[in-house]
Amino acid sequence: MTKLSSRTEFVKPTFQTSVNLDGYINIGSGTPNFSPPESVIQAFKESIDRRQLSYTSWSGLNTLKEAISRKLLKENKFLADPSAEILVTSGAQPAIFAIFLSILDEGDEVIIPAPYYSTYEEIAKICGAKVIPIKTDTSSNFTFIFEDFEKALSDKTKLVVLVSPSNPTGTVLLKGLIDKVYDKLKSLDIILITDEIYEHYIYDDHKHYSLMSEHVEKENIISIYSLSKGYGLTGIRVGYIVSNKNTIATIAPFHHAMNICAPVNAQYASIEALNLNREWFEVEMKNVIAARQLWMEFLDQLSLPYGIPQGAYYICFDISQCQKPAHQVSKDLRSDHQLIINSVDDKYLRGSFMQDLDVLKSGLNRFKSYLR
Ligand SMILES: Cc1ncc(COP(=O)(O)O)c(C=O)c1O
Repeated sequence: MTKLSSRTEFVKPTFQTSVNLDGYINIGSGTPNFSPPESVIQAFKESIDRRQLSYTSWSGLNTLKEAISRKLLKENKFLADPSAEILVTSGAQPAIFAIFLSILDEGDEVIIPAPYYSTYEEIAKICGAKVIPIKTDTSSNFTFIFEDFEKALSDKTKLVVLVSPSNPTGTVLLKGLIDKVYDKLKSLDIILITDEIYEHYIYDDHKHYSLMSEHVEKENIISIYSLSKGYGLTGIRVGYIVSNKNTIATIAPFHHAMNICAPVNAQYASIEALNLNREWFEVEMKNVIAARQLWMEFLDQLSLPYGIPQGAYYICFDISQCQKPAHQVSKDLRSDHQLIINSVDDKYLRGSFMQDLDVLKSGLNRFKSYLR
């Protein structure tokens, strides 16, 4: 038999929960259940009608980078030079890949608060690096303390990743903690990656903080954004990386090696999505907020511990009382109850707020009958 790469031992197909299957109720999906306004769809179609079907500049259309720069100034409160500090990517996923490939070597370590988005570990391993988790749990609402971060540091640490708001935990990190971590890393000349792709989903009094709003020189910071989650555009594959000029120039050839450029028509749709005011999104958020409430009431009734979602659109809950690993619970739910909820690790499942409320109620009923 053909000898395969040793990477095939840890990069394996997993069950895809982001597509809906007939007869199944999916209450774990990471995909928004809405689309952006019609003008975004029109922009996509019109670019096809104009026969815009070729590669764009590798770093993205200038008009798109300018729209991104305006968005960063308006929403994230910092300046980014569209000609040097922004790299348009085919979504956040290849952005992570390009960043990791350009920074990590065999044996390097990447610190990430856990539970984390599993792709980070997969890509780190592909690069020969190792993830060092900062363990968190429901008792602290999945946030970490600075001292635990310091303990995770070693002379092999090359990157630290903070995903806030977090997938899968819904935690929004406090500004003071992010600042403290950054100050420490800057003194050690280690890069901090901030994954802000859930920036538009914030609940109660929590606030999203972009580190670059206080460090516009962007030294030792790489920030990742995406059109996937906050614009209902997961399928068009557009994201962007922001950093200082030299770092962007270093990462860009790695994105080129994978994708050449982000899809051209998707880039035109993204310009329209970024230029729109976000009133349309507030309407969608009403359902998301109601679904969040429903999940919390449900888990309270069953006394299943969870982290109160402060952002993103996930709720991470402890399923240890089932006395089975969470991935087995997830499998049983799928095969015996046609219900899809992702497992996060041995202990936690991740629910999502991206369903109509009646579908979510039916899904939670199926879950209840499993638990009985
Ligand atoms: C934390 C996080 N980062 C990155 C991604 C990848 O997103 P994209 O669709 O922009 O590639 C995801 C997708 O779910 C995510 O949850």
